[in-house]
Amino acid sequence: MPNIDPQNLPKHVAIIMDGNGRWAKKKVMNRIRGHEEGAGSVRNIVKASREIGIHWLTLYAFSEENWKRPKYEVEALMKLLSRFLKGELDEMLNNGIRFQTIGRIDKLPKYVQDRVQKTVEKTSRNKDMVLTLALSYGSRQEVSDAIQKIAKRVESGDLTSEKITEQIISDSLYTGGMPDPDLLIRTSAEYRLSNFLLWQMAYTEFYFTPTLWPEFRKDEYLEAIEEYQKRERRFGATGEK
Ligand code: FPP
Repeated sequence: MPNIDPQNLPKHVAIIMDGNGRWAKKKVMNRIRGHEEGAGSVRNIVKASREIGIHWLTLYAFSEENWKRPKYEVEALMKLLSRFLKGELDEMLNNGIRFQTIGRIDKLPKYVQDRVQKTVEKTSRNKDMVLTLALSYGSRQEVSDAIQKIAKRVESGDLTSEKITEQIISDSLYTGGMPDPDLLIRTSAEYRLSNFLLWQMAYTEFYFTPTLWPEFRKDEYLEAIEEYQKRERRFGATGEK
């Protein structure tokens, strides 16, 4: 059992959940079974986060690029997502978990949008943890949306260009009001950011693992946090006090 220091937990953990397809292939199953098993890991990691005391958990569930996958796979992922939100609502309510999303939700099928909205509303008063799903999310799109928002404020006279600060940019992203991730986990031996939270991860610690997402459970999550706690975070300064 890894040794976790409760005083030095990452406030915000972001995860790129990768390898569902390869897990299914290994088991000679179709890719959809891989995503279903992946949803089991989502359940496990959400629960573990709440137990450990992680306040913010952000999961990359569907990227802007994922729309390019075959139609049947996109449809299966949408159904799985909607079923997951419905099935986990009580769990979220019983455990003080607030649910929210980042990304272009308007591109999702109407029934998924409705389910997302319902879950956001019903969990809106919860305070113990925030589960954020990135859905139809792309970091560059997020940045262009933010720039448009800021440009409109300048056009309307609410802001002048000299007054644009890092804080205003951060606040204009989908993640406005959220702290930046302290720890990023990516599974399945891929060493990329894949257009995920590019601005927000300027000082994030990275944990990469060959484990495929359906096999990533609480035991390795604790290892990732233990590894994070060994790192010295200097934010560009020297280590001297
Ligand atoms: C990557 O596996 C994963 C995804 C495309 C999406 C993540 C989706 C889930 C974990 C399932 C359901 C999510 C929720 C929130 C219930 P991949 O298909 O890219 O794997 P591969 O690279 O091995 O093909």
